[in-house]
Amino acid sequence: MGESIGILSIKGGVGKTTTTVALGSALAQRGKSVLLVDANFSAPNLALHLGIVQPEISLYDVLQGKANALGAVEETDYGFDIIAGRLNMKKVFYPDYMKLKEKIQHLKYHYDVILIDSSPTLDHETLAAMMASDKLLIVTTPDHATLSCTLHAVKVAKQKKVPIVGLIINKVYGKKFELSLEQIEKITGVPVLAVVPHEINIPKALAELRPSTFEAEETEAVVEYKKLAAFLVGESYKDKRFSTKLKAFFFSSKLPKQEINRQLKNKSYKIETEN
Ligand SMILES: Nc1ncnc2c1ncn2[C@@H]1O[C@H](COP(=O)(O)OP(=O)(O)O)[C@@H](O)[C@H]1O
Ligand SMILES: [Mg+2]
Repeated sequence: MGESIGILSIKGGVGKTTTTVALGSALAQRGKSVLLVDANFSAPNLALHLGIVQPEISLYDVLQGKANALGAVEETDYGFDIIAGRLNMKKVFYPDYMKLKEKIQHLKYHYDVILIDSSPTLDHETLAAMMASDKLLIVTTPDHATLSCTLHAVKVAKQKKVPIVGLIINKVYGKKFELSLEQIEKITGVPVLAVVPHEINIPKALAELRPSTFEAEETEAVVEYKKLAAFLVGESYKDKRFSTKLKAFFFSSKLPKQEINRQLKNKSYKIETEN
């Protein structure tokens, strides 16, 4: 039976949808069966990241009881499936979002991993996504404004007793003015499991309607998403990059903190360098 992982942050623009797509793609590339669910009910855009403009059946229909969740599944060109969201422009009707958990429960028999993208506001939408998740990954950026939202997300998850696997720090420039990984861990009390740099490759992939991890080019962001995917399923990640070998040769092979966290949190996760 598979598991559902909610991708959360109570703030817009930090990279929830980007992370959902990149991780989903990286997990599919590892041969896992993966489903992405757009639980950003009032502003769904997960399908748009993949060029699906008008889904035939959406999560909206599922929550209204008009369709079965399996019937709402659409295949993508990237080895994973998706249940898209849809705005109802004709009349304002709010389905019971809290039914999400019950509606997608049986899909765990069909998929290894279900990634749930979520909304940026702390309301019943985010709560529905949280409660439908077996565990959570919280996305943050390294600034005070976002960190206050991240703290809030951590607090609510703890109140609701939904386990947090860890944090993803996204859009990192590597500048001194940014909050450090250590500061973020100290303030939130949650381990950081991935540090994704701010990379032009990410919005470029969005413009080209494909997951960033689908490209052959192994940029830092892509590698970090791939490592996180390997960690989530307890597998090893083969680092084939020449730059890694070079660094290991010339510099001390001190591991970054997020790598240590991944290795500590999932003992079966390993990094292998190819010779
Ligand atoms: N690591 C990154 N580097 C550069 N741009 C990024 C990165 N992550 C996300 N973005 C860009 O930020 C914008 C918002 O990302 P998105 O995933 O839609 O955020 P959210 O779902 O949290 O609202 C998008 O244009 C996306 O391409
Ligand atoms: Mg989003």
